Amino acid sequence: MQKILMVCLGNICRSPLAEGIMLKLIKDHNLSIIVDSAGTSGFHIGENPDHRTIQNAKSHKIDLNQLVARQFKIEDFDEFDKIYVMDKSNYRNVMTLARTKEDEKKVELLLNLIEPGKNMEVPDPYFGGEKGFENVFQLIKKACYKIADLKD
Ligand code: 4NP
Repeated sequence: MQKILMVCLGNICRSPLAEGIMLKLIKDHNLSIIVDSAGTSGFHIGENPDHRTIQNAKSHKIDLNQLVARQFKIEDFDEFDKIYVMDKSNYRNVMTLARTKEDEKKVELLLNLIEPGKNMEVPDPYFGGEKGFENVFQLIKKACYKIADLKD
């Protein structure tokens, strides 16, 4: 059983979407994966995902309504095998909390799964328009299919 944590800044746009896409893939394909998500900031603790993210996900038949934002915590290094971050700022924030080399090894930029070594970022859609949310969806979906070992 692989345990994966998806991480962004607020845990209301990118990482809950990544969690929701993975939850659907896990359900549809009976995968042995546990997934959760968190934000490096505490700005939105207790909130559901951003309504624009919920709408965009819904248009792809992904339901995010049950998800609730929480903040990344040090114990997540013990709980999860892999910690996928959306951008370099998230990467720095999580790496700062790493206690050991083992912790550090768990942290990876999500898009390195589809473009290894390129250190590409999932852009923060929060301050942008609707197009940004669809772009984010397509990027995250590709990476999730890779995790699930499925062709997209
Ligand atoms: P997320 O997007 O990190 O993908 O959840 C953001 C959500 C909220 C803020 C920034 C990014 N914010 O500044 O409140």
